[in-house]
Formats: sequence, C-alpha cells, structure tokens
Amino acid sequence: MKIFRTIQDYRAWRADEKSRIGFVPTMGALHDGHASLLHASRDQGLKTVLSIFVNPTQFGPNEDFSKYPRTEEKDLEIAKVAGVDAVFLPSVEEMYPENYSTYIEETRLSVPLCGKFRPGHFRGVTTIVYRLFQIIQPSKAFFGLKDLQQFLVLKKMVEDLNLPLTLEGVPTLREPDGLALSSRNRYLSTEDRLRAASIYRNLTALCDRTATFESAWQDLEKQGFKVQYLEERNTADLSPASGEEKESAIFFAGFLNQTRLIDNVIRRKPNL
Ligand code: PAF
Repeated sequence: MKIFRTIQDYRAWRADEKSRIGFVPTMGALHDGHASLLHASRDQGLKTVLSIFVNPTQFGPNEDFSKYPRTEEKDLEIAKVAGVDAVFLPSVEEMYPENYSTYIEETRLSVPLCGKFRPGHFRGVTTIVYRLFQIIQPSKAFFGLKDLQQFLVLKKMVEDLNLPLTLEGVPTLREPDGLALSSRNRYLSTEDRLRAASIYRNLTALCDRTATFESAWQDLEKQGFKVQYLEERNTADLSPASGEEKESAIFFAGFLNQTRLIDNVIRRKPNL
C-alpha cells in the first residue's frame, strides 16, 4: 500500500497508473462504514485510493475541528486489511497553503437541513472534494448515505461542473440497535450511547407512519436530544416532501450533550 503526503508525489504515481481508480475520501477515524466503501470499490475491480484529511474549512468556528479524532496508525491498518492500493494523507498546509483563496459552492441543495445549522459547511465540503477529485483523478467515488445531503450536494456539483466521474452512495451501516456508524459515536458516554438508538427507532416509526413528526420530536427530546431538524424532503431536490415524489427521505440532526449526530431513512414509493 502506497502512502503519499504531498500532491506532487501522488501525481507522480498517478501519471503511470493506467487502471481505473475508485476513490474513498474520508476524514479518518475509520470504522466499518468506511470499510464498506473501500470494499464497494475493490469489489468493482477498481484500484482503490483512500484519502484521510480532516478538512478545516468544513468546520464552523465553534465546532469540533481540533478535537476531531485522529487515529492515523489504526486507519492505515484498516486500509491495508481492506486492500487499499494507495492512501493520500496531506497536511493542512499542503491543501491550504498561505493565501489560499478559491472555493466551490453549490447554492441550492446546500441551503436547508445541515446548511441552515452549519453555515459554510457544504462550501468547505464541495471545495475539498472538488480539489481531491482534481488530484486523485478517479473514475468513481464512493460516499456513505448516512450523509445523504452531502451526497446529493456532491452529485449536483459533479453534474453542474461536468466532472468526468460517477458517484456511488453506499447504504448506512448500523449497530444492532440501529445507531448509524459514525466517527463521532466515540464521543458518546455509555448512557448517551444507549439513548442514541432512539434516532433510528423514531426515523423508522415515521417511515412506517406509526409515529407523527410531533411525537417523534418529543420522544427524541425526552431522550435528551436537542433536535435541530426532523423533516421529510424530496431526494430529487431536497424540497419539502409533498407525498407525490418518487423518493423522499426523513432527515434528523440533533445534539446529545456536546455530540451532534445526524441520520436519515429513505422512503420509496412502491411500484414506481
Ligand atoms: O464525509 C466526510 O468524511 C467528509 O465530509 C469528506 C467527504 C471526506 C470531505 O471532507
């Protein structure tokens, strides 16, 4: 497994690489959810490149950038076991040298949900992912559907800018009690970890229509969540769901003490 810390070194390797590249961008703190993205790429016969970079521009001033878990040694072990061919592991200075001043912004799908509560977040995500695509030059890139809004924003960027690659969304992996795997789950106390299962329980109840949005919101608050949003939206354009769309998703974000968790369930109309 090759490890590259500079754009120049990666490019030198990439220039001689004739195979199609499958790319998995991450911020590290890898778990089985990330491993499933790496396996999806490997299973499609793609040479697989992983990037690990905690991107400062997608964190707000009061968010967890400095305490975001950095577990490089363990991440490299997981990557090796998953059969990764190359890892791109740049420093902040490598990606954002002094006087860096160019940003990419999607201006529609980025507005609601996390866009409302994390101003500038998606601008940071589209900027870094666009730049990683330019550096890595993949044929395909893989993203977890736990971050469904992020996936839809990035797909729109690829479409609008005619980028020469396809994106694949990989279903969310869950703990046995339904909690979506996330690097931030490690922040949870034992008690909060148990309470966090109420997210998926409420999302599935909303999906089956055995709960109302009001009762689900109240139940989550009773479990200790400070709910930011709990909404159903059309996945085509993230407009509020009308009941007529082919596919919608129910989106949640909230804080359990200091930890912000997000999740969603997708709802498809039968026979469409
Ligand atoms: O989903 C993530 O881990 C990050 O937002 C990404 C896509 C790696 C960009 O920093």
